Amino acid sequence: MLHANNSIDPVENAFARDVVAGLSADVKTLPSRWLYDERGSALFEEITRQDEYYLTRAETSILRERQSDIADFVESRAILIEYGAGAGVKTELVLAGLRDPYVPIDIADAFLAETSKRIASRFPSLWVRPIERNFLDVFEVPFDGSGGCRTGFFPGSTMGNLNTIEAKTLLAQMGRHLGDDGRAIIGVDLQKNVDTLLRAYDDSAGVTAAFNLNLLERINTELGGDFRLEQFEHAARWNEIEKAVEMHLVSLCDQRVTLCGRTFNFRTSETIHTESSRKYTAESFERLARSGGWRVAEAWQDADGLFGLFGLTRY
Ligand code: TRP
Repeated sequence: MLHANNSIDPVENAFARDVVAGLSADVKTLPSRWLYDERGSALFEEITRQDEYYLTRAETSILRERQSDIADFVESRAILIEYGAGAGVKTELVLAGLRDPYVPIDIADAFLAETSKRIASRFPSLWVRPIERNFLDVFEVPFDGSGGCRTGFFPGSTMGNLNTIEAKTLLAQMGRHLGDDGRAIIGVDLQKNVDTLLRAYDDSAGVTAAFNLNLLERINTELGGDFRLEQFEHAARWNEIEKAVEMHLVSLCDQRVTLCGRTFNFRTSETIHTESSRKYTAESFERLARSGGWRVAEAWQDADGLFGLFGLTRY
């Protein structure tokens, strides 16, 4: 809703609320889920095609090379519930041979509609039942009545974008959705030399930089902000304690920005933290899984040991 001064009300608009809260904090942050508007989603697709971004290729190669092991693990009578359904061929590799329905969950409705349409045309007899939700919210997956076992699919190292509390909460929610005989397949990026990691998040074509800076553009367009994009710069940094690549937007000068009728000051080199991408070892992922009520039954890797796909069963 627009106010008399033409600003968006942060109480009524979730994006405005998150931006105002994030920029008001001592250490400025913006929640990464707002990166994925239409342009952001398209830029992210482009990131996955960059040479430096090995994650998508590595994960897809595991899904291809271990397809029959994965199918055995999932069992043909399972229903697939995908958390944060993205685009691409990953789902199709797991879906072959599964039972109705396929349930993609995603917050971006445009993305969700596109995914549902593509899957429906690839698998014409498959019943697709999309759920438009933030998978971190608490919600139920409607019971389909036929009592088949369920498999959760959470690829793309999106688990790594969650903090420890969010990750545990989601794993517990997946436990509720998938039931005691449910299974889950989760893809996470593995720890490796820091150079390789940083390059994946700061590609030479500048696509990741454009993706990160698009968030400021979105604030300008949707919240009437006056960010000057040329006065901010994308940076990827390694946090050794968190074992995470952090994405930041660095202020190149002392400046002030106005949005939603509020003013925010930036010092030179001050940053907005927009995303973390945690990197796991087999051991650290196993600990995380256990804390959310799951046991690692299978661990698959690509030939270069870059990426891990884990098959989980309930404790
Ligand atoms: N899940 C992806 C990852 O952690 C998301 C991602 C890739 C991303 N590149 C990014 C998020 C750049 C923010 C900025 O690899």
